[in-house]
Amino acid sequence: MKLTAKSVSRVVLAATLIATTTGGVAFLATTSASAASTLGASAAQSGRYYGAAVAAGRLGDSTYVGLLNREFDMVTAENEMKMDATEPNQNQFSFANGDRIVNHALAQGKRVRGHTLAWHSQQPRWMQGMEGSALRSALVNHINRVASYYRGKIYAWDVVNEAFADGGSGGRRDSNLQRTGNDWIEVAFRTARAADPGAKLCYNDYNTDSWAAAKTQGVYRMVQDFKARGVPIDCVGLQSHFGTSIPGDYQTTIQRFAVLGVDVQITELDIAGSGAQQADSYRRVTQACVAVARCTGITVWGIRDTDSWRYPGDSPLLFDGSGNKKPAYNAVLDALNAAGPTNPTTTTTTTTSTTTTTQDPGPGGCTATASLNTWNGGFVANIKVTAGSSALNGWSVSVSLPSGTTVTNQWSANRSGTTGTVTFTNVDYNGSVAAGQSVEFGFQATGSATGLSPTCSAR
Ligand code: XIL
Repeated sequence: MKLTAKSVSRVVLAATLIATTTGGVAFLATTSASAASTLGASAAQSGRYYGAAVAAGRLGDSTYVGLLNREFDMVTAENEMKMDATEPNQNQFSFANGDRIVNHALAQGKRVRGHTLAWHSQQPRWMQGMEGSALRSALVNHINRVASYYRGKIYAWDVVNEAFADGGSGGRRDSNLQRTGNDWIEVAFRTARAADPGAKLCYNDYNTDSWAAAKTQGVYRMVQDFKARGVPIDCVGLQSHFGTSIPGDYQTTIQRFAVLGVDVQITELDIAGSGAQQADSYRRVTQACVAVARCTGITVWGIRDTDSWRYPGDSPLLFDGSGNKKPAYNAVLDALNAAGPTNPTTTTTTTTSTTTTTQDPGPGGCTATASLNTWNGGFVANIKVTAGSSALNGWSVSVSLPSGTTVTNQWSANRSGTTGTVTFTNVDYNGSVAAGQSVEFGFQATGSATGLSPTCSAR
């Protein structure tokens, strides 16, 4: 363990306490006892998590499950919550394998990162051939259904995965989703927020580790723009699939994203190599995260080298094929323990905030405000319902739609009507709203959103 000034004083304090009861011999024991002995526990000392990607098919392997249960406190489904897995046929959803992972994690007291709601890769076959407004609707429906299904169980969702192009352009990757319109990412985030308001919403990508990379700059500009315009985004995931070396400006990348007012998470870490060299690379990644207050956790993409998706020769993980700890494991544990229960060394500030002023509707009343995402031929409306100076036990929101506009689906609300004046009422879990507090629901429609102005009343 590397002793920082803070950890030294911690050790000395503890040692003094024990020295008075059992004598000086206890000093050594106390030094090591101040360090946690699993990845999850050592990360937790500084308020972080340490996670692993998990495959449902390996949950019957006792060595694998033993390591998972002992070492990790966050879980990502390696493939089981991707679009092809959860919606194999259009509008027919399949959650059995995702559930096996989520249920295992929750039963063990671990949290879950959802991966991933929208991606150009691992799309179901029916979606691969779609385009335009049909694909846009299918995407919104997918996000709605999957995020609603897992609502309350997910710590953070990778809402959109890998949407930026490699190389020097700093622009978007071409894909069927991108061709539905540049606003597809913000529509995805707004839809996810409405479907699961409790989950952190992340943008996740690879080759965004070096601050100097054009791709990193492209993602940075998007996050900056989302924060400025109030598009809901809470975190950026750096996949961090590395060769043998780590970019020298990796910590700068983490720091710069954090300053935008988002959490940063290392979401799919694996590093090729072996021995001291690999250990050193893992140590550097860990130190870069713990140096930034808003770097809230690290996930490795698999448990043993034999579980990895990479070439066998890369042996990129923390445990060997037999489940033994590698030198890289000890390097990570030491770096996490060195961060200790003290504050991280770098603090960050949130630079953007948005304020909305609405008239106090008084006791028993409520207000409704809409935020819209429109595209040619349709829109998604997210409606925020805010209680006045007394609590609501139920609410009703009406919208008058322009002629030719038709609601196609809604989430987190019941609906009556599809055209003209359409009324939405609370569902069982969001009818109670404390004074001054808000809940959100949303709907999707074809046609125009011109003049949309929701009115709220208590019921
Ligand atoms: C990988 C899985 O590990 C493999 O099992 C699968 O065959 C392909 O996908 N970026 C991501 C992950 O966001 O979902 C990918 O996972 C690895 C790259």
